[in-house]
Amino acid sequence: MLDSFKREIDYLRISVTDRCNLRCLYCMPDGIDKRPHDEILRDEEIVKVVKESVKIGIKKIRITGGEPLVRKGIYELIRKIHDVEGVKEITITTNATLLLGNVKKLKNAGISRVNFSLDTLDDEKFQFISNTDLTLDYHKLIKELIENEMSPIKINAVLLRGFNDNEIPKFIELADKYNLIVRLIELMPVGHLNFDYDKYYISKDKVLKTYKELIFHRKDSISEYYHVEGKKGLIGFINPISHKFCSSCNRIRLTADGHLKPCLHNNNEIMIKDIDETQLLDKLKEAIKAKPISHTLDESRDNISDRPMNKIGG
Ligand code: GTP
Ligand code: 5AD
Ligand code: SF4
Repeated sequence: MLDSFKREIDYLRISVTDRCNLRCLYCMPDGIDKRPHDEILRDEEIVKVVKESVKIGIKKIRITGGEPLVRKGIYELIRKIHDVEGVKEITITTNATLLLGNVKKLKNAGISRVNFSLDTLDDEKFQFISNTDLTLDYHKLIKELIENEMSPIKINAVLLRGFNDNEIPKFIELADKYNLIVRLIELMPVGHLNFDYDKYYISKDKVLKTYKELIFHRKDSISEYYHVEGKKGLIGFINPISHKFCSSCNRIRLTADGHLKPCLHNNNEIMIKDIDETQLLDKLKEAIKAKPISHTLDESRDNISDRPMNKIGG
């Protein structure tokens, strides 16, 4: 379906939980208030949204969180969504810490591609930014993804000045070693967190000035890709702050507590819990029509979404 600005909306991002086994400093508020279970959409309710959304042109579904793999019965839920007629692709964005050893199971449930988050290749830094004592054996995980023909593999790293901007040569090596894509995401102000945004934000242009070996390759709806002469793989940038890509936005979001979110950076939400199919279809159309032409973070930082990222799913 076309939105009010003639953008084709065919992509639904479904957050299946706001819980997470990590506590990334830029994502989770302090004292996380977990939603009681009865506020979280049940499998049948999510599947109902998917069934109605394919009627108005949604083709691609991405499962997000919090961390989607902490939801009980997640593999069964994925299979139910996959089986809805009209769903052409179902993918997942995960922190991957619960994925090792489970890739085949995920594939069998219907997932065709995995994007996983990894802000640093250093274990100690991983523990600092994720605010846990966990680490991720990313070499093992990447091998498991390759063995299961889950490609292209995309790694998402939030760019944090003074934390990981010096790791770009290492990300280039990793992309080359496994012929994969590492996307560097500009830090977005989302939710009201105790995190020093201005200290950590760094733009794509600043990074490109330092790493002159990165050569422009191609663009898609939200990413710009660069390659390095003689090396495999790609380095991507997602620049919602410095070069907003809202004119090619193709997505709406469903939160775990049953709200449609027309735009990530906007507080407009449409409640869909406990309504019947006909009303649901109307609400989906309303959400698509309510998509703003663009976010307005460049006008004022006050325009940020009150929901923290773990309750939106990226
Ligand atoms: P592909 O299907 O591989 O293109 O996935 P994707 O890029 O749509 O999904 P992914 O979850 O990997 O997105 C990466 C990150 O980009 C998200 O975690 C967000 O931080 C950011 N992002 C995704 N969609 C939007 C959007 O509509 N607006 C903004 N500002 N950021 C977004
Ligand atoms: N800015 C940019 N990306 C973010 N993510 C979470 N919070 C932010 C933020 N404030 C990313 C995570 C993950 C995805 C779910 O969202 O790193 O890749
Ligand atoms: Fe969890 Fe992802 Fe948020 Fe980190 S960014 S706390 S992994 S939801």
